[in-house]
Amino acid sequence: MKKYKRNILVTGGAGFIGSHVVRRLVKRYPDYRIVNLDKLTYAGNLENLADIQENDNYFFEKADICDFERVKEIIRSCEIDGIIHLAAESHVDRSIVDPFIFAKTNVLGTLTLLQAARDVWEESADGFAGKLFYHISTDEVYGALRTGKELFTEQTPYSPHSPYSASKASSDHFVRAFRDTYAMPVVISNCSNNYGPFQFPEKLIPLFINNIRHHKPLPVYGRGENVRDWLYVEDHARAIDLIFHEGRPGETYNIGGFNEWRNIDLVKLLVKVTDRLLGNPEGYSDELITYVTDRKGHDLRYAIDSTKLKSELGWEPSLQFEEGMERTARWYLDNQEWLDHVTSGDYLRYYESMYSKR
Ligand code: NAD
Ligand code: TYD
Repeated sequence: MKKYKRNILVTGGAGFIGSHVVRRLVKRYPDYRIVNLDKLTYAGNLENLADIQENDNYFFEKADICDFERVKEIIRSCEIDGIIHLAAESHVDRSIVDPFIFAKTNVLGTLTLLQAARDVWEESADGFAGKLFYHISTDEVYGALRTGKELFTEQTPYSPHSPYSASKASSDHFVRAFRDTYAMPVVISNCSNNYGPFQFPEKLIPLFINNIRHHKPLPVYGRGENVRDWLYVEDHARAIDLIFHEGRPGETYNIGGFNEWRNIDLVKLLVKVTDRLLGNPEGYSDELITYVTDRKGHDLRYAIDSTKLKSELGWEPSLQFEEGMERTARWYLDNQEWLDHVTSGDYLRYYESMYSKR
């Protein structure tokens, strides 16, 4: 069997952020084996990785992170020495409707992965040496800020409000418990809202671009005054690569672009950019903006202080938001087939057609 310099397991690699992470690692490190473990829920789409699926160093395992024996077997047989854990249920609105699956996947799934890694690594010749469990988390664990200058730092106490953020907070605590109890080498990063290609069109930006394209209403929750801090997904993937390789084990790093937008201002910019790209006259889609009943427990403001990541590891976001929005809107309009597959459910059959014949 071919020997690789590193054997890295990425969970949730068929999802939005995970696919950018997998693509980056597969292309940048041809001497690494990159194993993508994904259950392919509604949010997992292997079409996101069509451009790298034939690469020699890329492997896909359809598996559930809650399946202890299977996960353990993959970690053992692939000689995994690094885990980048992104698999999760990720949409706040879904967590309000069905919190149980969030506890199952995000809490029990993370615990299952931790325990499986611990079992295999503790039994290996060099124990935890050269191993790393990297857990990808969110700024939503810190709760909500009022409008003003306050930012979330790595010291901000946890105060999650939605079932989604409560489940992510719980998973973060389990990761730290494994660090403190078993001396497992772990690192955690908490990132702000991501945007960019391959995001499932239930989230604000891809949903609204698709609706503008079909001239459908743009449902703005409440008065549109909630503030989110937006980061281009490739900048997040670059930060993950950097933290995985150079972050200090045991530490937490906040990731964000110091880029706060009120939802309504973001939506107006998005309408302007998308109309221009579609060749519509200025203001054509403004009438689509529709204020609807607010999300339950809607956090007012998230804003990340990523000074630690910048000063320790030299990371900075690379894109201005206006440029990132234009790039993103253009991508969704240029990839209508992808959007159509995702909205019709056709992407769920892609796995069968691509992988079942192998
Ligand atoms: P996503 O919903 O697009 O993708 C999640 C992936 O996990 C999918 O491919 C899905 O099939 C897979 N998955 C779900 N349950 C699984 C299970 N039981 N076993 C194996 N695979 C499973 O999510 P995303 O937006 O790419 O987020 C990825 C990670 O980043 C999550 O942990 C999320 O909490 C975190 N995060 C997301 C954002 C954001 O803005 N999207 C911001 C900060 C942190
Ligand atoms: P979302 O993309 O769901 O991310 P998160 O809830 O994790 O921040 O939502 C971003 C913001 O946009 C959030 O304040 C809720 C709001 N929103 C709307 O106003 N309308 C929508 O249809 C959606 C999906 C979100």
